[in-house]
Amino acid sequence: MEDQKRIGRIAVVGSNMVDLITYITRMPAPGETLEAPDFEIGCGGKGANQAVAAAKLGSQVSMVTKVGSDLFGDNTIANFQQFGIDTTHVAKVEGKSSGVAPIFVEESGENSILIVKGANADLLPADVDAAEETLRQADLILMQLEVPLETVRHTVRRAAEWGVPTILNPAPATPELNVGDLRSLSFLVPNESELALLSGMPTDSEDEINAAARSLIAQGIGTVIVTLGGRGARLITADQVTPIEPVRVTPVDTTGAGDAFIGSFAHFFAASGNTEEALKQAARYAAQSVGKRGTQKSYASAEEFVSFCEGLAPSAS
Ligand code: RIB
Repeated sequence: MEDQKRIGRIAVVGSNMVDLITYITRMPAPGETLEAPDFEIGCGGKGANQAVAAAKLGSQVSMVTKVGSDLFGDNTIANFQQFGIDTTHVAKVEGKSSGVAPIFVEESGENSILIVKGANADLLPADVDAAEETLRQADLILMQLEVPLETVRHTVRRAAEWGVPTILNPAPATPELNVGDLRSLSFLVPNESELALLSGMPTDSEDEINAAARSLIAQGIGTVIVTLGGRGARLITADQVTPIEPVRVTPVDTTGAGDAFIGSFAHFFAASGNTEEALKQAARYAAQSVGKRGTQKSYASAEEFVSFCEGLAPSAS
């Protein structure tokens, strides 16, 4: 069970999106019109999802992001506030649309996502500087790549000056990011393909994954946590590799499961300081989220998470 010693303060410098989720039986072929059985709209975006996961579990969360001046912007701000997330540094960009993500979920629970950054593209280094007072008081700063890269690089640099630990989820992957930008990063959380792109090395076997992660650690990144989907995750430090076993559930919708993993890891790590234990808890939290439809709305509260863990087989709990 959760070994919560304190309430962590988590800041997210990242994106928010409106998820337009269509549940499909198959993707239409080019030129084809196909009826899909269901549609849902919800709040998403990798940054916002990670913030909401941590907040639902009880962390004190601040969000640094930008919304559009359309009908979605106010709703996104209200959604953050509903979960007790501090929105002092959530700004509205006049004349810009909010970020949106058309998402297609197949019957297997697998998803395909398009993102339109909208106002997220206007989150700039100056916005990070404006939020300095909040950011330097955080226990952890979380970032992803749905905002400009210059903002991510700047946040990594400033956080190192302030002595605040950082987590980067390098998604969606981009060849423009290089390790030199991330030398002072505390935790990098890539999947296998993001790790391959960033390291320039293959990641097709366990040994290759370890070697690729170690090459990044040799260049200054503290710890690499590789997410492996249904195969769990792997915690890799300079001298140790620790597998994090998956928690097996029947998937309904995998959208946002990676964000549930990272946001909940941030919560558990900020509370306990124990990386391996926090990752085991995060694997359970992410597994619970894939049993429900949607992104943020599939994330459990602290109480729901405790009951889920109580229902797991002893080896998984
Ligand atoms: O990781 C899932 C998220 O990716 C979705 O919520 C969507 O908005 C995209 O950002």
